[in-house]
Amino acid sequence: MQPSEPEQLFEPNADRATYVRGMFGDIAARYDLLNTIMTGGRHHAWRRLTARALVRPGDRVVDVGCGTGDLAIACLRAGAARVLGVDFARPMLTHAYRKAGRHARRVFSFAAGDATRLPLADASVDVWCSAFMVRNIPDLDAALAEAHRVLRPGGRLGILEIPKMEAGPLRPFARAYFQRMVPLVGRVVSGHESAYRYLPVSVDHFLEPAELASKLTAAGFEVRDVRRLMFSTVALHVAVKAGAAH
Ligand SMILES: C[S@@+](CC[C@H](N)C(=O)[O-])C[C@H]1O[C@@H](n2cnc3c(N)ncnc32)[C@H](O)[C@@H]1O
Repeated sequence: MQPSEPEQLFEPNADRATYVRGMFGDIAARYDLLNTIMTGGRHHAWRRLTARALVRPGDRVVDVGCGTGDLAIACLRAGAARVLGVDFARPMLTHAYRKAGRHARRVFSFAAGDATRLPLADASVDVWCSAFMVRNIPDLDAALAEAHRVLRPGGRLGILEIPKMEAGPLRPFARAYFQRMVPLVGRVVSGHESAYRYLPVSVDHFLEPAELASKLTAAGFEVRDVRRLMFSTVALHVAVKAGAAH
């Protein structure tokens, strides 16, 4: 689906998942470059921070919406024993597999799949993490229920995401950046007309950090930390599946 306006993707009967899968398939080859341009190179530091907040030596990790694999690789560097990257856009997985390089056969695996139906047994991972993915999921409650299912009791969940901007003096500047600069740079570098117009709209339709924290609590997690990064344009939520020592 190529909507003439990204707003249409948030109408009740729109098939946003199909659009998102196709869109990331289309931009896979330029995705890493665009991340670096749009964040001034900061995105690697955020993924490192996420991995360090979540991963302990020997952990089994699933990176959901792994894209080109940077968070999965950061988790491995933070000491994970095994990392499964799951994404429903196969071209993104092709890049992830290539970047994982020699680690791929030993400790990485990648699977095409949906965040709401993970190819994992109940209570089979120590860490569920995702970066810049949950905003794209039409049924976030279903994805959080799935995260809860695959995590062992006491397992850790981390969500790195662009939240809906909270009220404050920086909001007009952040909105101007997302609504003007991001679509312009995205169009020039990726050549994809709607992908980077979708991004600011998806942010506007997402949750503020406190709202996401409430959703996590409702899904059975204890929220341990909410960190705001890059002038609050990015947030990291760290939570634990209640039930045992962690
Ligand atoms: C913005 S990219 C982020 C990729 C990577 N996590 C990163 O940090 O660069 C979002 C990724 O989530 C994937 N995605 C979105 N919704 C998904 C879903 N429901 N199930 C699996 N993957 C999904 C997209 O295909 C895309 O690769």
